[in-house]
Amino acid sequence: MRFAKFRLITLLFCLFSTLSAQEKSTIPEVQALLDQMTLDEKIGQLNLLTPGGGILTGSVVSKDVEKKIKAGQVGGLFGISGPDKLRLAQELAVNHTRLKIPLLFGSDVIHGYKTTFPIPLGMSCSWDLGLIEKAARVAATEATADGINWNFSPMVDIARDPRWGRIAEGAGEDPYLGSVIAKAMVRGYQGADLSENNTMLSCVKHFALYGASQAGRDYHTVDMGRIAMFNQYLPPYKAAVDAGVGSVMSSFNDVDGIPATGNKWLLTDLLRLRWGFEGFVVSDYTSLNEMIPHGLGNLQAVSILALKAGLDMDMVGEGFLTTLKKSVEEKKISEGEIEQACRRILEAKYKLGLFDDPYRYLEESRAKNEILTSENREFARTVASRSFVLLKNYNDILPLKKNSRIALVGPLADSRENMLGTWAPTGDAKWAITVLEGFKKVAPQASIRHAKGANITDDSVLAKKVNVFGPRIVMDKRSPVKMVQEALDIAKSSDVIVAVVGEATEMSGEAASLTDISLPKSQKKLIRALASTGKPLVLVLMSGRPLTIPEEYEMPIALLQVWHPGVEAGHAIADVVFGNYNPSGKLTATWPRNVGQIPIYHSVKNTGRPNPKEGYEKFKSNYLDVPNTPLFPFGYGLSYTNFEYSNLRLDKEQLKRGQTLQIKVTVKNTGNYDGETVVQLYLGDVVRSITPPKRQLKGFKKIMVKKGEEKEVTLTLTENDLKFYNNKLEFVAEPGEFVVHVGGDSNAQLARSFILVE
Ligand code: NOJ
Repeated sequence: MRFAKFRLITLLFCLFSTLSAQEKSTIPEVQALLDQMTLDEKIGQLNLLTPGGGILTGSVVSKDVEKKIKAGQVGGLFGISGPDKLRLAQELAVNHTRLKIPLLFGSDVIHGYKTTFPIPLGMSCSWDLGLIEKAARVAATEATADGINWNFSPMVDIARDPRWGRIAEGAGEDPYLGSVIAKAMVRGYQGADLSENNTMLSCVKHFALYGASQAGRDYHTVDMGRIAMFNQYLPPYKAAVDAGVGSVMSSFNDVDGIPATGNKWLLTDLLRLRWGFEGFVVSDYTSLNEMIPHGLGNLQAVSILALKAGLDMDMVGEGFLTTLKKSVEEKKISEGEIEQACRRILEAKYKLGLFDDPYRYLEESRAKNEILTSENREFARTVASRSFVLLKNYNDILPLKKNSRIALVGPLADSRENMLGTWAPTGDAKWAITVLEGFKKVAPQASIRHAKGANITDDSVLAKKVNVFGPRIVMDKRSPVKMVQEALDIAKSSDVIVAVVGEATEMSGEAASLTDISLPKSQKKLIRALASTGKPLVLVLMSGRPLTIPEEYEMPIALLQVWHPGVEAGHAIADVVFGNYNPSGKLTATWPRNVGQIPIYHSVKNTGRPNPKEGYEKFKSNYLDVPNTPLFPFGYGLSYTNFEYSNLRLDKEQLKRGQTLQIKVTVKNTGNYDGETVVQLYLGDVVRSITPPKRQLKGFKKIMVKKGEEKEVTLTLTENDLKFYNNKLEFVAEPGEFVVHVGGDSNAQLARSFILVE
């Protein structure tokens, strides 16, 4: 019976999909334009090019761009910016083509435009949705002031494998947190009205499952069952769609054996028919052409596949431009299918207000006045300090006194080029504040001496690969031994050592996967030498991913994880190190003990042979060499103060469908500093029709509690929060017992049960 119903729905979907291929635009201006367009003009709109000479974000650059624009063969450009250049390009389209259709101007504004914020993984650790939305708003204001009207962000790929370099670009491992962050970013970019001159079209990416590439190797195969897809990996993309995102980027990987860019189930059945997405879909950089090496045929064949799957725009590859007409002539596709893609792109241009005024985003005065303002920089400083996670604070080493004698060492202590982080192509490192500069500014009374202490790595082959966008790892002329000695020399006469260590920016990001995510040997040696002095030691850790640092963790030190903090790096780090801001960041991706534990994440299932104890037990699901637990769990992060949780209570023991459950908990600041923290709610579904994760994040609240103060915090759950996709992919809440856990990380101990009744 159920199966018959499912088949009927599929049939209706197919029917609807055929009908929608001939759908007219509901925007009369767009339809009027479509009615006048030739086949060539329609195909031209599906072509997205990057002219080079500006910001390079992929391996090939488009040729003859000017000629193609004039010939009506281009729908949009990306990788260039500035009202002057973009005005010239827009003039080519508007003045030289028959129908004067304006171009879209896209860009990768991933964590800020010129005011670079922390990498997205860092920003997510703030758990501050207002802050994240505002960062997106600031980015949109700056980017649109520079002519950009379309942003290739947010990147919402769930990532549970820190070997994957692109974990840096997303919000970590959790579908709930990822979803609320996705919504906040879409709201921030698109605002309430896309046609305002300071809002831009957002593009959620990389649809889909890109973060689950096997073994953490970029662009690698993804092989995942539908239950995991629907419950764990797809929610953030859906959240972006629900928030009204205007475009979607297909990913490089395959999904169930078909590359996302040519995957009809993904781009049409799921995205449009099930989720109701009405915007347009763009490929990733040449991902259409990459279906050839994926093994799906020649350029004409894969272009047909992609168009029929629901891809509307081809980024850089020019497969659509060069083969679609032939395919129409050979009756392999219909003009209607091309028109459908063209309509979606024109509708986006219309919504951006480009038909009213193609130069809407190209006012010179805005570029001068609204970019990298002191106000924006101040905000970037705030965002950065909120993204830091205090991992350990042995003997309360932190915060430091502002009049300390400090040995500031490490290869990242005076590095400007590594502050912005990966995928900041519109930023410029020359505007970044180094840690040394930040320390001097925030603590002018301190005596600060600096030594590099080590190269980021002594491996020159690795350094060459990392330096692809310019020198990030600079090999010092001095020998490694001499550098360590210099650091030890200044450490001797200091009260405290602060070592700024970790990854160069391009050690994470695209095509920057690693199989070893521990600190490079050069830095490990430095840290060992510093620790052996017995002086108080603070490690300020920079990285684009969780690292494996079991050895450093065992040392009697303070560990402050700062990711790559952006343009205000040095100021923000100094603010936290010297106690102007009490750290409140919480990890959004689990830190493993070693790479063998990967993939690792908090919402694991129990298995049939759980081992609830710490130690190893034969015939249980555990390892011989390390415990199952990570080094730092999801949601973890310390403060200079302590928070105690008590008195967890629910307003009902039984919840009826449609009702809301209120959860109250008391949080007391028992330490010596005022501080913010994130109250986290995890839910366990005790029995259900498919194996449940032991607990899942279902709510949180970031609060400020003054020293000695006690606050009552209320969180809520609705029936929707209890739902999951069952093995028929229906979104259901099943009656029975649920357990609510509340606390300061994913190991939250306070627990109360309730029953969902029919
Ligand atoms: C490839 C990346 O995967 C994607 O994230 C980016 O938006 C495009 N290049 C354009 O730069």
